[in-house]
Amino acid sequence: MAITYEGKNKRWFLETENMGYVFGLDEKGKLKNLYWGSKLPRFDDYPGVNDLVVMDRYTWNDEFSVRGEKNNVEHCLKVEYYDGVRDVVLNYVNFEIKGDQLIIKLLDEQYGLSVKLFYRLIEKYDIIERWVELENNSDKEIKIEDIKSASLYVENSKKASLNYLTGMWGSEFHLRKEKINEGSKVLESRVGKTSAYMNPYFAIDYEATEERGKVYFGELAWSGNWKISIQKRIYERIGIISGINEWDFTYILEPSKKFITPKFVFGFSNEGFSKASQNLHHYQLDYILPQDKAHKIRKVLYNSWEATTFNVTEENQKILAEKAAKIGVELFVIDDGWFGQRNDDHAGLGDWYVNKEKFPNGLKPLIEYVKSLGMDFGIWVEPEMVNPDSDLYRNHPDWVINFPNRPRSLQRNQLILNLARQDVKQFIINFMDKLLTENDIDFVKWDMNRHIFESGWSETEVKKQREIWVKYIWNLYDIWKYLREKYPQVTFENCSSGGGRVDLGIMQYADQVWTSDNTDPFDRLEIQEGFSYAYAPKIMMGWVTDWGGKEAYPLEYRFHSSMMGSLGIGADLNKFSEKDFEIAKNQVQFYKEIRKIVQEGYQYRLSSVTNERYFAVQYLNEDKSEGVIIYLRNPMRFGLFDRVNLKLKGLEDEALYTIYEGVKDEEKEVITLSGKALKERGIIIEDSSKKFLTYGKIDHFFSRILKVKKISNNIK
Ligand code: DGJ
Repeated sequence: MAITYEGKNKRWFLETENMGYVFGLDEKGKLKNLYWGSKLPRFDDYPGVNDLVVMDRYTWNDEFSVRGEKNNVEHCLKVEYYDGVRDVVLNYVNFEIKGDQLIIKLLDEQYGLSVKLFYRLIEKYDIIERWVELENNSDKEIKIEDIKSASLYVENSKKASLNYLTGMWGSEFHLRKEKINEGSKVLESRVGKTSAYMNPYFAIDYEATEERGKVYFGELAWSGNWKISIQKRIYERIGIISGINEWDFTYILEPSKKFITPKFVFGFSNEGFSKASQNLHHYQLDYILPQDKAHKIRKVLYNSWEATTFNVTEENQKILAEKAAKIGVELFVIDDGWFGQRNDDHAGLGDWYVNKEKFPNGLKPLIEYVKSLGMDFGIWVEPEMVNPDSDLYRNHPDWVINFPNRPRSLQRNQLILNLARQDVKQFIINFMDKLLTENDIDFVKWDMNRHIFESGWSETEVKKQREIWVKYIWNLYDIWKYLREKYPQVTFENCSSGGGRVDLGIMQYADQVWTSDNTDPFDRLEIQEGFSYAYAPKIMMGWVTDWGGKEAYPLEYRFHSSMMGSLGIGADLNKFSEKDFEIAKNQVQFYKEIRKIVQEGYQYRLSSVTNERYFAVQYLNEDKSEGVIIYLRNPMRFGLFDRVNLKLKGLEDEALYTIYEGVKDEEKEVITLSGKALKERGIIIEDSSKKFLTYGKIDHFFSRILKVKKISNNIK
């Protein structure tokens, strides 16, 4: 049994394949966290309530810490009761095991606040989901000032390092690593969405490598303001708390009402970062992404944004569509500019009718044409936004988030609709319904291009105005849920100025995400590398574009960079030469041959673009019979070398593998070796440093993509 309760010592054991997580009741009936780490052979091997070392007079071990009860460390729950009391006193009531779930019930009896802690075990991937449900069982309102999803603890050691993802627009998901010192480190967003600045992911390790060492990691499933705080004192353990950001937040919990937090998903790997991210990837595919499409292959898409920007017309899109079809594209997506008076980013957002000058006969002729070429049709929308220069804003100036008597600040010339309002929610549902029922649409790219600043909601009672931050997100999720259920044929891509809203919350509704507006094939590698720590390759859409000018990178390099996840093309195909078309066709065909392994397989980082002269990634299918290696040079790191020795990973020692290059029917064998030899001795990539002498020229950038195939189970 994965969840076990031991009555004698009042302990709960949550065990997955390789991880143990234990908490118990102390003599006063308080819930104390006891252990998180490698699974141990016997229950008796795990610590008991008195086994933690007491320093500074306290241990730091509340399984669900509250503001109150002599607790002055970071807490999960802070409320104010009707009489001004702000100390929460929670006592254990009972527990329930329901299949893979454990529910612990706690109660603040005097004030009727019931707290249920939920744990769901994902045994195969060494992951636990935690969330909390508050219920007001009194007849008075309870003001929630802070409610986090979970507190966790890891060993306090000088070796402990924190890994997290940070950046900004155009450079999202940059991986940082730093020693954890005394004090608090806060990862958070306060802009109303997940944000490009930080992503709700953390990992703590103790000098772990890709293959070795302990890695504790977690992700919050929330697309609004979030927080992960890591706190170190002199105590035996380091505390980690995560959930909705308490900044500018309060919530009035009315009698008999519930509040459910987002899930904090956490896991443990005893085999370094590679296993940690592989487990997260497969957990996302099996448990987070909408399951109707989670295991379906992502189509190769073409998006016309970088080619035509706002200047879309029926005619120019048809020309691009025809060219896209020629290279094997399966889905044609028209981006911004098709609606209202949307000729640039100053006007039109909110007016979701087809622009008659650009599409005199509506979207149908284009859609039919795209379909006649054998492709699916996709469209861009940005439903949460409005330009002041739009009919929507002229008719409903009160629909935008604002504080009365204060300026309404613009970002990208737009304001944000208050999606916490039911009428705004209904407006979005109505226009999306109209768009999707009147047109044969297979794919929606849902964009969101600004932050929330003046977070006012003056139409609601003052005491409830700060609920805007969560009600906005709940309504957003409701809309996505509604659309998915009503239009099961539609694939949804989530975008927010690139990767500004990438998290497990939105991934419960979106099939894939637009990773970054930065489509430079080299600069993007650091983004893609960081992304790989936290999210599955299949979710990551990357386009082949003309970024930096057509002469900056070989077309192959651009393709190979984008093939690390789900492949898209965004280049201006009107500028393609015959040779470019030939290369592109060949690369698309190649991608179709390997995409199942890339999208569904196990990803191994063979090197880091920030440390090495090259970036290499390997993918392997479940039974280790087929793989892919993508190699891209990092020419920003000088070094005199002619060859690179790549050591492969994950292969079966005793099996025989052949490495091939090229599309089917034209495959050329590179080498045949045992799995063990490929891992120990590796393969050689001919990559002469003499090419550095071409700095500033196109062959400064070099890449290679190889297929790995098992040809025999046994070398003998
Ligand atoms: C921002 C997105 O990230 C881009 O891909 C593009 O869709 C533009 N918005 C369109 O305005």
